[in-house]
Amino acid sequence: MNLDPTHPIGVFDSGVGGLTVVRALMERLPFENITYFGDTARVPYGVKSVETITAYATQITEFLLKQKVKLLIVACNTIAAVAGEPVREMSPVPVLDVIDAGARRAAAETKSRQVGVIGTPATINSNAYARAIHRYDPRVRIYSHACPLFVPLVEEGWLDHPVTRLTAQEYLKPVLAEHIDTLVLGCTHYPLLKPLFEQLLGPQIRLVDSAEAMAAIASDLLAQEKLLNPARIRPAYRFFVTDVPYRFQTIGERFLGRTLSQAVLVKLS
Ligand code: DGL
Repeated sequence: MNLDPTHPIGVFDSGVGGLTVVRALMERLPFENITYFGDTARVPYGVKSVETITAYATQITEFLLKQKVKLLIVACNTIAAVAGEPVREMSPVPVLDVIDAGARRAAAETKSRQVGVIGTPATINSNAYARAIHRYDPRVRIYSHACPLFVPLVEEGWLDHPVTRLTAQEYLKPVLAEHIDTLVLGCTHYPLLKPLFEQLLGPQIRLVDSAEAMAAIASDLLAQEKLLNPARIRPAYRFFVTDVPYRFQTIGERFLGRTLSQAVLVKLS
């Protein structure tokens, strides 16, 4: 398939969390057009079944392919964990996902080969991070823990609130007991908690931010496939959502780190 380098990169997530990936892409690839899809009407996915998440992911992929994207990025760890394969199978354009990106970086960074992974229940139950890390280094031992409360706490903006601090201490206790040297932030929302994690974990534990890792991989792939946008003008950013919930703008801008231009409401069927 002949892809047009001026076409946008398609990024999708269960809601606004994937804007952490868009933010990293905007910083790394400032001339790329980006089309984002957030399923804000049906978020959260992290507590839903594999069947439901796969059905939703399929609908979003169809929608973004119709927008003529040149690359698809699964920004949602939960979708990547349980529906990465179906998305790849239906896409004629290259597909990248945050789990592969985070796994690759974790395998490269760990010295002790003891790696912690935190994410939503669906991501952790799928064991997708462990499988992905083992593809890069089968000797790594992985200790994972589901942290369902972090998503609502981040959306509430409680990034350094005593409640979030206590929750983090509780969630991280079992993982830390395993003497890990690397912790994968396996959810779109967790990069916003990085300062808190750094305080709690200290400098000896590296944090792997899948959003940052993804931007680096996307940049390499586009260069390798000669798909980097040659235009040197301000790129077009388009945001599609399935609902405009309460405080959408405030929450979205927190993830994106800049003003969020008007989102277009769409209905999926
Ligand atoms: N985007 C999801 C993830 O990265 C978190 C929000 C949700 O549960 O849908 O796992």
